[in-house]
Parts: sequence; structure tokens; C-alpha cells
Amino acid sequence: MNTTSIFGDLSIEDFLANYWQKKPLVIRNAFPDYEMPFTAEELAGLAIDTDAPSRIIIENGLAPKNQPWQVKLSPFEDEDFTTLPDSHCTFLVNDLERYIPELGNLMEPFRFIPDWRIDDLMVSYAEDQGSVGPHNDEYDVFLIQGEGKRRWKVITRENYDKTLIPDLDIALLKEFEADEEWLLETGDMLYLPPNMPHFGRAEGPCFTFSVGFRAPQTLELTQSWLETFSQQSGFKERFSDANRSLQKNSGEISQKDIQTLSQMMQSALQKEQQNLPLFLGKYLTEARGETPEINEPDSSQVFHKETDYERESWLRLAYIEDNNTLHFFADGQHVELPLKLKPDIQELCENYYFTSESLKPLTKNAVFKKLFTQLIQQGAIHP
Ligand code: SIN
Ligand code: CO
Repeated sequence: MNTTSIFGDLSIEDFLANYWQKKPLVIRNAFPDYEMPFTAEELAGLAIDTDAPSRIIIENGLAPKNQPWQVKLSPFEDEDFTTLPDSHCTFLVNDLERYIPELGNLMEPFRFIPDWRIDDLMVSYAEDQGSVGPHNDEYDVFLIQGEGKRRWKVITRENYDKTLIPDLDIALLKEFEADEEWLLETGDMLYLPPNMPHFGRAEGPCFTFSVGFRAPQTLELTQSWLETFSQQSGFKERFSDANRSLQKNSGEISQKDIQTLSQMMQSALQKEQQNLPLFLGKYLTEARGETPEINEPDSSQVFHKETDYERESWLRLAYIEDNNTLHFFADGQHVELPLKLKPDIQELCENYYFTSESLKPLTKNAVFKKLFTQLIQQGAIHP
């Protein structure tokens, strides 16, 4: 993992202590001499040909809806791109790292934040003055200027007018009086913490990458955890009241009944508490949304020791260390491993490319070899 230089003179420890989730930060030349690996036409082609979630946003596009901002969502056809105005428009593609695995390199410097916290790589291409409009995101983001210039304005004060422009398909702020602004050029980077309203406008055609982060909401986590309980016996128990005493009014839900009901819920949850880490490991490694079907699962595949292997960029791996056990998670599945496999699992989690040489010491261990072979058979790792 190479995490040394992305913030220049600022150490990663300093970044975490003083900026992460707190303050915006501009790093000039974070990606020196960056060269875009694709053109706007190629990106449009990707948006047309794949399931990558994409959007086109046009400002002042009055017809047909008479709105100051218009949004069109994928799927797209050629025509959607050939009819675009030559200013005040932008198109954005999410999940880019899944479709162009080499772009994983752009995300690599941010892996000082654990993989489970990283969401995806998005790119936007904008014609002159193109923008997605003034808005607020609930997530951290690193905005990397891939090519051309974009002027970023941000609101750093806490009290600002949160009124949205009415009747739009996107949440855009009606008023935007910036506290700070920067003009980002090729290779420059801007970090923004969550809930810091921002407004980036292209000055000439430009590309901007966004490394987006994931911050699960309590409701989403709890709902998914509850769904795993449907087969658990504790949750099949029913209310019982053999000791019922006579109550005065049939309309009352008595304190005693409330207590019994809440106790039965709480004790069932309590029993599941110990399984929470395993649930989290599975949940946080589940691949989100569409995964590009590059390799069909094939249970007859075997591991070849002379071959180099590559991990699919949608494959989320993680481990949890607990006493003498290592819980390994891959795409929502869990395996229990002996703790002595930790260095091997760490290497597996950290890398996307495995040369036959680097695999030699790892696959000496039969358990690791079996695991690696299973991932190959699932199409999650391929030659
Ligand atoms: C963009 O790339 O234009 C938008 C990114 C963002 O505002 O989050
Ligand atoms: Co944003």
C-alpha cells in the first residue's frame, strides 16, 4: 500500500487529526502530470454500453420542463450525447473502477481509510460552465481534477440557507453564498468533509474524479440486521400471558403487557448481539448494485501456479480478528480461519494483482489455496 505522498508535506496522521470529517483541504499537484486515460467520447460510450449508473445534467435547459436544471438518468443512447449543448452541461458516471480497473490506482492512495468505508469512483465530464449545481452531500469526497479547470466554491459556515430550488429532480440549494473558493487545475485535489455545501463549475471543458465514501445509516444497518433473524428461533417465540390478572378496561394496554412485549424483543436481540460482528463483516463486503459480468462463475476452474491473477474491482474483502480466530469475508460470505493465516489474508485483502511469484508462498498453505481457488471459481479473481 502506497499512502505516503498524497497530501504532500502533510502526513496522513495530520490529515486524519485535522481535516478528515472536519475541514476542506486543497492539495495542489496531488497527481502530478495526470493524464486522462479516456476521452469524453469513450466515457459516453461506456455510459451507453454498460450498466454503470450515469447522469446528464443541463443548466438552463428550459424546454421541455421549464426547469433551471434538468437531469437525465441512464440508460442512454447515442442520441442523448449527440444532442448535448456545448456549454452548461455535464455527464457523470459512477462505479467507474468496476468498468476500468486500472483506475483503481486513483483510489489506492486513499486506502489509509479502510476499504469498507470507500464507496466508488465517479467521474464527471463537463463542457464549459458545466456543473451539477450547488448542493450538499452527506459523504466525504476527494475531488481530483483529471483534466482542465474547475472552480470550486464551498460554504464552510454552519448557518446557511438550506432552502432547495423547488420542483427539481435533484436537491440543489436556492441560495449559495460561498465562504471559500479555489480554481483546481489538472492533478489538483480538493477534500470535502460531509455536509459542506459545494458548487463546482467547469472553466472550459474538464474532467473531475470523485473518490466517494460510504457512511451506512443506522436504519439501513438495523433493518438489514433484522432481516437476518427470520430463521432465528428467538424471534419465532410468541407472546404468552399465563399469569394474566383481570384488568378494569379492555381498552388498556397495561404497563405489565408493555414490559413483557418489550422484554421479549430485547432478549431476542440480546441473544443475537454476539453475531453482530459477523453480520457486519458480511454486510459490509456485499457487492453493491450491478457487478459487471466479466467472468462467469465456473466451479471446474483450478488454480494454476504459473499464472498471474487479478482481483475484480467489485470484490470487497475484509477480515475481523477475534481471539484466536480470523473471520474472513468476501462478497458477503464468511469463512473462519486460523489466526496464523493473518499475514496471507492481509496480503489478499490489500492487493488487486497477484503474480505467480507472490502467490507461491501463500498457496503453500492448503487452506489459503482452497480459498483462493473458490474465489477464482466464483469469478471474483481471474487469470
Ligand atoms: C462533479 O464532478 O461535477 C460533481 C461532484 C460533486 O459535486 O460531488
Ligand atoms: Co457533491
